[in-house]
Amino acid sequence: MTMLKSVRLAATATLLAAATTALAQETSPSDDVIATGRLRFERNCALCHGTDGRGFGPFLTQLNKKPPDLRLLSRNNAGYFPLKRVYDAIDGRMLPSSHGTTQMPIWGETFKSTVAGGSETLVRGRILELIMYLESIQADGGV
Ligand code: HEC
Repeated sequence: MTMLKSVRLAATATLLAAATTALAQETSPSDDVIATGRLRFERNCALCHGTDGRGFGPFLTQLNKKPPDLRLLSRNNAGYFPLKRVYDAIDGRMLPSSHGTTQMPIWGETFKSTVAGGSETLVRGRILELIMYLESIQADGGV
């Protein structure tokens, strides 16, 4: 093998390796949403629901009711992620009070008061980020 050829081969191998790494690291826009949702979850929800979502956060002893295992939302709903129920549970603003006392804070209010101008669109975006994250941690991979 000539010197030139082996240099070319080595260069090709390096390029291939770089391309493979780039492919492996390629992320989709929704991965980014999920990552943000995860951060929000750790900041706002993990206290009760635990960082892994199983419901054993440090605040557990202060609650009358153990938070549900959020990884089993799909499994407990015939394999389908209960999107609307989860959205309503997180937003909380429109839940009828006849549902009784819930220990789950109303995040719609919280997010509304923390976003600039209380923009409804931003509130919905934050809730959706959380939902995308929750869907990504479903035990069966979600449906
Ligand atoms: C102060 C403790 C606490 C915090 C903080 C909290 N939750 Fe909850 N959550 C609960 C409890 C308790 C329940 C069960 C409520 C019930 O059944 O009445 C619950 C229920 C839920 C449900 C409903 C599950 C179902 O099967 O319908 C979802 C979804 C949920 N929480 C998501 C979240 C998210 C997302 C956050 C953060 C934005 C959060 N929770 C923050 C305590 C908490």
